[in-house]
Amino acid sequence: MTVDERTLDQVARLVAGGRRNVAFTGAGVSVESGIPDFRSAGGLWERFDPADYATIEAFRRDPAKVWQMYREMGELLDRAEPNAAHRALARLEDLGRLEAIITQNIDNLHQEAGSRRVIEFHGNARRLVCSCGRVESAAEVKRRWAAGEDFPPRCRSCGAVLKPDVVLFGEPVPQEASREAMRLVQHPDVLLAVGTSAVVAPASYLPVVASKTGGTIVEINVERTDLTGTYAAYSLFGPAGEVMPALVERVEGLLERDRSPT
Ligand code: APR
Repeated sequence: MTVDERTLDQVARLVAGGRRNVAFTGAGVSVESGIPDFRSAGGLWERFDPADYATIEAFRRDPAKVWQMYREMGELLDRAEPNAAHRALARLEDLGRLEAIITQNIDNLHQEAGSRRVIEFHGNARRLVCSCGRVESAAEVKRRWAAGEDFPPRCRSCGAVLKPDVVLFGEPVPQEASREAMRLVQHPDVLLAVGTSAVVAPASYLPVVASKTGGTIVEINVERTDLTGTYAAYSLFGPAGEVMPALVERVEGLLERDRSPT
């Protein structure tokens, strides 16, 4: 790992001393679980034009086409396991040094890693919803596919095509998630921006609000982003699956030292 050890120690001291630390995660935190991100080379948007597959208009125009992407994504999600970055963030919550994770990811991996407070800013692909209000589990619907039932999946109540419970471009962020996220980024101690290009609004406003209300922004990424040298006070460049465990290990050591009698 090439991350700057001195910066890592400085960030560990801030996190260990913080009581209102928040994580803001994007697709990069799940890349080491085998799920490609969106905008890196080889990312999802290189293979599926978001204009044709990721807008609510595209879904209404041709749901079967959008479902082709979600069926392929679903197979990746089914095979994916939480990686060391997800587990490190769950550990930070256990240590009392992470209040919540605001995630843009829809893969449920933070929850599966044991994180308890996860704000699903862009929804969760484990649920399918219908305009009539019915909610079904994606796993249940997949069993129906396997049994040769209709594709794309239809609502058992009204027959409309079901939609993954994720925020498509042109849709609003769920109100409760938006409200909770905005509360969390007011006057945080540290906001860890992990594996996100921070370019998609309104999620991209969150680190800006955190910074403007006095929070220290730390980005963990494999490359520079819009936050680098602007809102990020610290940048730890390296794979999240390596940087996050190294950071949490240092935080744990600092907390141990503060607890042990001198
Ligand atoms: N460790 C850390 N960062 C990584 C890793 C890794 N192993 N691999 C990739 N990254 C970084 C990339 O450098 C990039 O900055 O993760 C970021 C992923 O950026 P995007 O692909 O833009 O994903 P994200 O920021 O989550 O996109 C936000 O856009 O398309 C919409 O709804 C979609 O939630 C998504 C939103």
